Amino acid sequence: MKLFVATHNQHKIREISQILPGFEIVPDDPEGVEENAPDFAGNALIKVRAIAEKHKGEWCMADDSGLEVKALGGAPGVHSARYAGEPCNTPANNALLLKNLEGVKDRAARFTCCCALVDPSGEELVVHGHCPGHIAEKAAGVEGFGYDPLFIPNGFDKSFAELSAEEKNAISHRGRALEKVKAIVGNGECGTGSESSTPPLTHSSTFLAWLRLFRVVNLPTVPGDVLVGAALMSFFSWRAMSGLAAAACASVFLYMFGLADNDIVGAKGDSGRPIPDGEITLGAARLARGLCLFAALVVALIGSLPRFWWPVALALVLSIVVYNRTKWSVFMGLCRALNVVCGVACVKIAFTQGDERLVYPVAVVAGLWFLYIWAVTKYSEGEEKNPGKKRLVGMFVGGIVYLQLLVLIVITMWDAGAMPLLVAGAVLLVLLRLFKRALPKVSAS
Ligand code: IMP
Repeated sequence: MKLFVATHNQHKIREISQILPGFEIVPDDPEGVEENAPDFAGNALIKVRAIAEKHKGEWCMADDSGLEVKALGGAPGVHSARYAGEPCNTPANNALLLKNLEGVKDRAARFTCCCALVDPSGEELVVHGHCPGHIAEKAAGVEGFGYDPLFIPNGFDKSFAELSAEEKNAISHRGRALEKVKAIVGNGECGTGSESSTPPLTHSSTFLAWLRLFRVVNLPTVPGDVLVGAALMSFFSWRAMSGLAAAACASVFLYMFGLADNDIVGAKGDSGRPIPDGEITLGAARLARGLCLFAALVVALIGSLPRFWWPVALALVLSIVVYNRTKWSVFMGLCRALNVVCGVACVKIAFTQGDERLVYPVAVVAGLWFLYIWAVTKYSEGEEKNPGKKRLVGMFVGGIVYLQLLVLIVITMWDAGAMPLLVAGAVLLVLLRLFKRALPKVSAS
């Protein structure tokens, strides 16, 4: 497969050829273009568009990459190549970086690579790769290029310039972005939807990192399950429900426990997630995971949830833990079905009156949830390498709220007593839409 690459940097061409061995890499210098975009994605697009003009009907790619240092507010960033001024001077760049970090303790940094692609039909797509690490006190090693002698990737005690080409490519920002490129070109077309640009590595992004860890945009989808479960009980009387808010709140905390646990288990991977990117330390994430579980239990005690809630919650925690470690989609389906049963379990009267008829609607709805989430999770395998698929999966996950609303509407038509639950479901839907609009950077991952 022929791939035109917009660069004249021999080091990059060598790395790209090593990482994409099955490709015929044809370098083409996008002479004269001005890389004046504020981010890597913008600059990569400027470069790839310049060469795609000349090679219509072919695959074209441009990468824009650089180093972001947390203590320097994300600098040198898009100015990496000319940090010490024009023209590009690597020893001067490295010396300036060391000077600017004199006496600085927090030396966290990451390399970012952004690849922009144009497919033979002219569709464009952007993907990212990151490599988190820190800046050494002094240069070491002779391999690689640019800032390599100063950058120590997480999990290593050597600089990039002390690693072999294979070692660097296996973990580098460029290696990770090009793995995605390989999958996309293998698909034959760009598809729809680029990865949105990851937040720059700065101190102020730590708050965003926590929001991303807890996928805060998805949180409104959780209490809806509990509402649905509780509404199923409504033909007794919705007023008899006790602890509905406590059960919904406990479910959100258990979900947050699961998300923290998921990222802790995957701490070594790439994916633009806050722990691998070094934005949140493993220790802090472990503490947050413990606190979320603790908060769920405290809320359940304060809300004096019925005894039946506890074994259901235990089964939910076990499903979460098993899913995170095995990635068997069936357990993800089980998690959301158990969430509905948590809603059933918070309705005391359902169990004191012991009406067996209730088993059927509960089983049907919980089963529906199980199948829906199982199918979405199964479909989502490999989504991180395919932005088009990632977007579709995002839509399906958001779709659970519409499913919740649909079931709540049906139950309310059958028993108007469930109306307050329908209103609460509608509020969750509005919240989800607002979060998505207000926090696109958080929903991106
Ligand atoms: P550009 O992508 O050609 O605009 O330049 C990016 C600049 O970032 C390079 O000149 C290097 O200074 C730096 N850089 C990007 N990737 C690497 C890498 O893998 N090792 C070391 N420096 C890099």
